[in-house]
Amino acid sequence: MAAPGVALVTGASRGLGAEIAVALAGAGHPVALGYRTGHEAAETVVARIVGAGGRAVALAADVTDPDGVRDLVAGTQAALGPVEILVVNATGPQPPSPAETLTWAQVEPMLDYFVRSPVLLMEAVVPGMVARGSGRIVHVGSEVAASVPPGTAAYVAAKSAQLGLARASARDLGRHGITVNTVAPGWVPVERHVDSDPADVAAYVADVPLGRHGTPAEVAAAVVHLASPAAAFVNGAVLHVNGGRTLG
Ligand SMILES: NC(=O)c1ccc[n+]([C@@H]2O[C@H](COP(=O)([O-])OP(=O)(O)OC[C@H]3O[C@@H](n4cnc5c(N)ncnc54)[C@H](O)[C@@H]3O)[C@@H](O)[C@H]2O)c1
Repeated sequence: MAAPGVALVTGASRGLGAEIAVALAGAGHPVALGYRTGHEAAETVVARIVGAGGRAVALAADVTDPDGVRDLVAGTQAALGPVEILVVNATGPQPPSPAETLTWAQVEPMLDYFVRSPVLLMEAVVPGMVARGSGRIVHVGSEVAASVPPGTAAYVAAKSAQLGLARASARDLGRHGITVNTVAPGWVPVERHVDSDPADVAAYVADVPLGRHGTPAEVAAAVVHLASPAAAFVNGAVLHVNGGRTLG
């Protein structure tokens, strides 16, 4: 059986991306961790992986910038080999953006992360995947595309657009042996949520059939599955990791 392919995870210095990188490495994938800031945090994740016997490198680059993406993919190739699994995960801040006062200045940075960056990454990795006749792209989407929480129009618009891009890509790239799927987490507390209002936490959890938040490791396990041979025939899917919150 072929060795697990090289994975590139964007936004892997912390949060969900860090756990996804660790889990992919645990499944035998050499992993490149993209990040923008937080060099020490990214190197700590690399050390976790290497300490557990895996292979990993951390590469700083802005994934919303064409040169940054080119450097990130070239750096991955030079250190580990061609990208066979792309995990589109990076995000910047997600400030409130109610539709009553919505501006293009609020929407554009969200589209930079969730449409521009994924397209730039596709430009850099898809030609190689097509030439090899294989590849996996996993988008980290969000349940907000289904649940549409109030006051988040910019984020919901961009995450919905990312989902459309993933589904259209699955349609076109399937014939090249490339699958494109989305993992859609619910609210999974990570570093940036440390100051969350306990009332918000309680209200959210009350709406989850399983009665709790998910964990980064549970999101990572879904990504690892979609990257694995077991998911070879899964294409264009949305795997909700939210305890059933978007059942309707
Ligand atoms: N955590 C949640 O509750 C949750 C829920 C649903 C969806 N998501 C999605 O999961 C993904 C990860 O979210 P998170 O909560 O782990 O975020 P996070 O803020 O913890 O991590 C973001 C990562 O992206 C990197 N990053 C930021 N800007 C960058 C740039 N311009 N170029 C390169 N890297 C950059 C950061 O360095 C960091 O490593 C996002 O796509 C988010 O929309 C998260």
